[in-house]
Amino acid sequence: MDRWLVLCRPGFEGDTAAELIHLLGLAGGHGHARTRDGAGLLEVFPGDGDALAWLEADTLRDAVFPRQYCATGTLVEGLPTDDRLRPLLADWQQPVADALVETAEGGGHRELGKLVQRLQGPLKGVLQERGLWRPDDPFAPRLHVVLDSGSSAWVGVAPRRLSSPLPGGIPRLRRLGGAPSRSALKLDEALRYLVGENERYLQMRSGMTAADLGAAPGGWTWVLRQWGVGVFAVDNGALAPGLKVDPDVVHVRADAFTWEPPQALDWLVCDLVDKPARVVELMARWLRRGWAKRALFNLKLPMRRRWQAVQDAELRFFRTLGPEAERFRLRVRHLYHDREEVTAYAEPLA
Ligand SMILES: C[S@@+](CC[C@H](N)C(=O)[O-])C[C@H]1O[C@@H](n2cnc3c(N)ncnc32)[C@H](O)[C@@H]1O
Repeated sequence: MDRWLVLCRPGFEGDTAAELIHLLGLAGGHGHARTRDGAGLLEVFPGDGDALAWLEADTLRDAVFPRQYCATGTLVEGLPTDDRLRPLLADWQQPVADALVETAEGGGHRELGKLVQRLQGPLKGVLQERGLWRPDDPFAPRLHVVLDSGSSAWVGVAPRRLSSPLPGGIPRLRRLGGAPSRSALKLDEALRYLVGENERYLQMRSGMTAADLGAAPGGWTWVLRQWGVGVFAVDNGALAPGLKVDPDVVHVRADAFTWEPPQALDWLVCDLVDKPARVVELMARWLRRGWAKRALFNLKLPMRRRWQAVQDAELRFFRTLGPEAERFRLRVRHLYHDREEVTAYAEPLA
């Protein structure tokens, strides 16, 4: 397996490649990438050719831009349309505990959506037939079949703790009925996949408090209220009617960059449309002063050199934290509901 097959948001192939080559470099390796603009898919070739070993060494664990990845080899072409999977897996010998059929989001791959769904069941069947299906084996990896067309696919593998269990790394979130804006989905996804369900359960509960900076019309405030959190919603704009009458929402008409909370809070969330540098400095100031225990925020990215912008923002965040920097971990992800933006979660280290 000489490469990683990586899926990302269409249009972010160059940024994803730049990030992954950078991460390889940090881990003492080197490599190059082959991208297809707009396809939402790229191949990255670690210099020494052992793509699986680099994955297993957690080289990509904290990557921002990939939605999904696996270690794989050359694209297998010319698959017969009446039985694609048996020839594709003819040489596959490794038992697996999970298996996904998936494809990219751009470059015409979307048309493969129905085929992807249709092959999901048969993939498991072929693995069972071959005696390679071991769902109870805690150490067995996940198999990835990534379709490039109706007759070509990559077959790859990744440790289950690293690759996404969701086909294409895309969450299928329910529409949040009653939420005042589509932005609510961003916070919902961030809480599930960036904060994590366990941490959300422990750290976001009834009786806790938050500030929501740039809150209107109130999608994020609405999500916080679903978990019982009392919210200072800071925005000069209007909140949705349901939030206006909620006694546990205090609408603060103020500038989010200068407003100070009346008490120390559990959460700071922020969806301000502003320069990443201004937003990370604001987040770091709040945490440094102990105004909130943790922060979840969105960073709007420039049109170009987005990976560079993320790196600059991370550096500025920790610089602004100063001596408090060692008390926090920052995780940044380009979530499915993020467009030209990424979401960051700053959590206190125990
Ligand atoms: C993307 S919207 C937030 C959407 C919100 N998260 C939701 O889920 O409905 C950004 C908001 O930031 C507000 N905003 C921009 N600059 C601000 C500032 N300096 N102080 C307070 N609010 C600000 C805007 O009025 C706007 O309502």
